[in-house]
Amino acid sequence: AAAGPWVRTSRAQAPPVKIGLVLPYTGVYAVLGESITQAMELVFEREHWMVAGRKIEMIKEDDEMKPPVGIRKTEKLIDSDRVDILTGPVHSGILMGMRDKVHNSKTILIVSNAGADAISRGRCSKWIFRASFSNWQPCHPMGDWVAKHVAKEVFLTAPNYQAGKDMMNAFKEAFVPAGGKVVAEDYPKLGETDYAPYLTKIRQSGAKAVFAFFSGTDAVNFVKQYDQFGLKGSIKLTGAGFLTEPDVLPAQGKSALGIVTGHFYTPQLDNPTNKKFVADFKAKFKGKTPDGFACQGYDTAEAIVRALKAVNGNTQDKEKLVATLEKVEFDSPRGRFRFDPKTHNVIQPFIYIREVREVAGGLDNVPIDKVADVRDPGTGCTLPA
Ligand code: BEZ
Repeated sequence: AAAGPWVRTSRAQAPPVKIGLVLPYTGVYAVLGESITQAMELVFEREHWMVAGRKIEMIKEDDEMKPPVGIRKTEKLIDSDRVDILTGPVHSGILMGMRDKVHNSKTILIVSNAGADAISRGRCSKWIFRASFSNWQPCHPMGDWVAKHVAKEVFLTAPNYQAGKDMMNAFKEAFVPAGGKVVAEDYPKLGETDYAPYLTKIRQSGAKAVFAFFSGTDAVNFVKQYDQFGLKGSIKLTGAGFLTEPDVLPAQGKSALGIVTGHFYTPQLDNPTNKKFVADFKAKFKGKTPDGFACQGYDTAEAIVRALKAVNGNTQDKEKLVATLEKVEFDSPRGRFRFDPKTHNVIQPFIYIREVREVAGGLDNVPIDKVADVRDPGTGCTLPA
């Protein structure tokens, strides 16, 4: 191997592996950024913050949920901090804004949330992996399921930005061919706090069900106001899993009972890796239940640890690190984890259809059905490497 900063004559001289995090630590999605970070810390702590003889150093940057800030922080992490690996963001618009800088600088990015479908399709990059989901993945299976099991007349609603549009389109792609009719669609601004005008339209629409994507504080406000408005008993609320994740369930309380969503994870999953993850996460973070975002952080860190071990800590040979990441496979809390070699997007072992129910210890998303092996339909890069 070529000489470089990773080549060491003794352990003490090995430079740290720098991992840059571009995540929201303030704003509507702050709780998401926190869960991702906490689960990454859990995995690195298990490794005593040392992998293949190199210390692991996390450099955290708050993107404040603003694309220009996210892009500036990405440039800082790549150009000034010279990170070895980048992770984040949460917001699809920020991911789209970061994409060219990451691609052109050949920085390895493991996306730990943002689901922008284009990153698995026309805007994909050999340097970008995604350990979370594409926006299509939790929503497409729901289109068919809602048409068959809930209602044929549905109102769609989501925040007015790329993730909201991607998710509603994925739902429609399966819902309409299954005989469903979209009664109306409405897109409040991201960070809306008063949903009354939107709830009035839903009430007047004649829809029998709603399919919604909201997350973070938007999910808390929408679900509580839906109940306060008296819609909960008459128009069935369904959505993408983010609507009722454990990061927001305690604040939503009984307003969330009965909501049906599609997601790749629930802390209820009965597998040994998940049981240990839930127990360790609760023990480290004052009884907090891990959510899907924490599972994404766990898988991002686990993929990094495994790839670094396989290349013996050599982060200089980026082509080799990319080829190694492509082959990484392990038991995740969500099931068997692997990247789709065509798109670098995670293959979801299952999308669970989950219902919010009372369980021992409070409310949780209980699986009631599942769809296996859900891959984004992207066929890979259409852009030059
Ligand atoms: C997104 O912007 O891609 C996103 C944000 C929150 C939850 C899910 C997706």
